[in-house]
Amino acid sequence: MLSTKKATFWLFFVVERVLTAQIPLSPDYHQVDPLQWDLDEPPAVNATGNLVFETANSLLQHWPSTRYRIGHTIVPGIVPVGTILYHGTITGPHMPTALDWVAVEPEHSMIFCNGTVETGYWHATFSVTRPMKVLYFDGNSAAKVSEGTMDTQDLVAWSEMKPEWFENELQRIQDLCKWGLQNGVDGFVSEIMICNFTSHMELISFSNVESLRLGDDNPADLPNDPNTIFEMMHSASWRENYPGETRIILDYSGLISFYDNDLVPSLVPRHVGVERWDHRVAGISPEDIERVKDRLAQVLKQPPVTASGIDWKTVLRFVVDRYASRLDMMQYLMNITLDDTPVLLDRARKVQRQLRTILAPYIILGTPPSRGSVEVNATNSWAAPVFQGCATTHTSTIGTRGILTPSERLLLQAVQETTREICRVTTRIWASGFIAGIDPLYPPDQDLDADHIRTLMGEWKEDIARLMSWLDWNVWVKCRPACGVEEMCYFPTWPFQGWDSASKLWLDLNEGDWKRPQPKCIRRLEPYGF
Ligand SMILES: *[C@@H]1O[C@H](CO)[C@@H](O)[C@H](O)[C@H]1NC(C)=O
Ligand SMILES: *[C@@H]1O[C@H](CO)[C@@H](O)[C@H](O)[C@H]1NC(C)=O
Ligand SMILES: *[C@@H]1O[C@H](CO)[C@@H](O)[C@H](O)[C@H]1NC(C)=O
Ligand SMILES: *[C@@H]1O[C@H](CO)[C@@H](O)[C@H](O)[C@H]1NC(C)=O
Ligand SMILES: *[C@@H]1O[C@H](CO)[C@@H](O)[C@H](O)[C@H]1NC(C)=O
Repeated sequence: MLSTKKATFWLFFVVERVLTAQIPLSPDYHQVDPLQWDLDEPPAVNATGNLVFETANSLLQHWPSTRYRIGHTIVPGIVPVGTILYHGTITGPHMPTALDWVAVEPEHSMIFCNGTVETGYWHATFSVTRPMKVLYFDGNSAAKVSEGTMDTQDLVAWSEMKPEWFENELQRIQDLCKWGLQNGVDGFVSEIMICNFTSHMELISFSNVESLRLGDDNPADLPNDPNTIFEMMHSASWRENYPGETRIILDYSGLISFYDNDLVPSLVPRHVGVERWDHRVAGISPEDIERVKDRLAQVLKQPPVTASGIDWKTVLRFVVDRYASRLDMMQYLMNITLDDTPVLLDRARKVQRQLRTILAPYIILGTPPSRGSVEVNATNSWAAPVFQGCATTHTSTIGTRGILTPSERLLLQAVQETTREICRVTTRIWASGFIAGIDPLYPPDQDLDADHIRTLMGEWKEDIARLMSWLDWNVWVKCRPACGVEEMCYFPTWPFQGWDSASKLWLDLNEGDWKRPQPKCIRRLEPYGF
């Protein structure tokens, strides 16, 4: 305990010394153009910065990928040396020599073994011997359904979507690998499709293990055993949220997004005004497919590590860390009926406190006007410098540091658009609350106007709800109330939509629950229930 304290203090001390050694140099936030930093101007309806942001922030995480199944991102990556991979054989004691699938958990690979109680199962464990270059498709890209989960793979394999071939996984892996061979790609991820079993892996063991006694020798069928299925979902849940699957290292400087309006303009009208659940890559024009494939070929030629040196995963995560829990808290604080004045004022002050904490680094000395001064009007343009400081500080030097790839420029723009909207809405609310006299750090010079604050609170509630729905961050999607010790929070997903413990049968979900899955608690122990 003592040593932890010492270490923390030491770190703090060093940072402090470095900072105090610097020459204070404050950017002149007062020189802002109020038109460019208009607190009333929301993002364009066809702006996709929020979508690029949250998809890039969700890569290799199981939770967001099962919530929104249809992938919109392709990213090159590396499976590092020493990574352990698993493969269950269908044909008994025969090792695949060419292409086939591997899994990152044995709970997943053993389901594919084919064997009886007498013959047992044949299960192989591999270790990666040299960096394996893979292409990652986001979303639930292993789901064999006809509604678009494999569209981005089809596009790479065949330059067109073939939803009618959704079960034709052998043809897909063969054609992907053929394309991969020309472009230096050794495998493809959701489950990992390996193009050559001998080139990048060595065998650790190939064991004849006891059968799992799934009571069904056909590996094409879902075992009628909820324990096996639950444990497979359970092992996937270890990668549920940030940082997700760390056994694959993505190169964000080569990221390709179907929300990139410059790269894929044909999808813009198909996304505007359409709920995120219903976004598809289908409908993309042939010209845009060509552009995507050209970009992909370019990306795979460039060296795997970006010259800019920016860790995009952390840049994105930093924004989420900074705002997610406070926005969530503000939404909770404002979720009240507004008639009870003492409660209203108490909550309004607490909201203001959250906002002030968020914005404190950008409220330059002398920015807040004295209330009742001539500068104060409905647009609160006095707060424009706070908005600008909040929206630009963290990204202002990124573009100047080395040369950014087109993918990095897209990511930068996504971070900027996203931060700008968060800062616009939070500054707008803070400024109006400040003028109304509820900032606890600036006690009001006259009695509070409760009716005015009631009206404001109604507006703020809507503003925060609109912002949170625009951001649509997966960190906010949870089982509420939280699950018990014997339970796990789960999204109904392919192919494990539901299990009925009474009839011992897999259930099909009704269409609404399938199309717009909501998290629910399922049991980790017998009797299982999905
Ligand atoms: C987005 O909408 C604006 C205004 O309607 C338009 O000028 C712009 O070209 C659109 N952008 C794209 C990529 O379609
Ligand atoms: C599973 O094994 C049995 C018996 O060895 C064999 O007849 C059957 O074709 C195998 N199934 C598959 C899908 O290979
Ligand atoms: C697989 O890789 C090995 C070793 O690099 C190579 O000798 C072999 O030709 C490759 N197989 C195919 C089908 O490309
Ligand atoms: C607001 O509170 C109600 C009742 O407590 C709850 O059912 C609802 O989910 C809450 N809404 C939000 C957005 O938190
Ligand atoms: C609000 O006040 C600012 C000065 O602080 C002024 O530039 C702006 O024109 C005013 N806006 C309106 C709508 O009166």
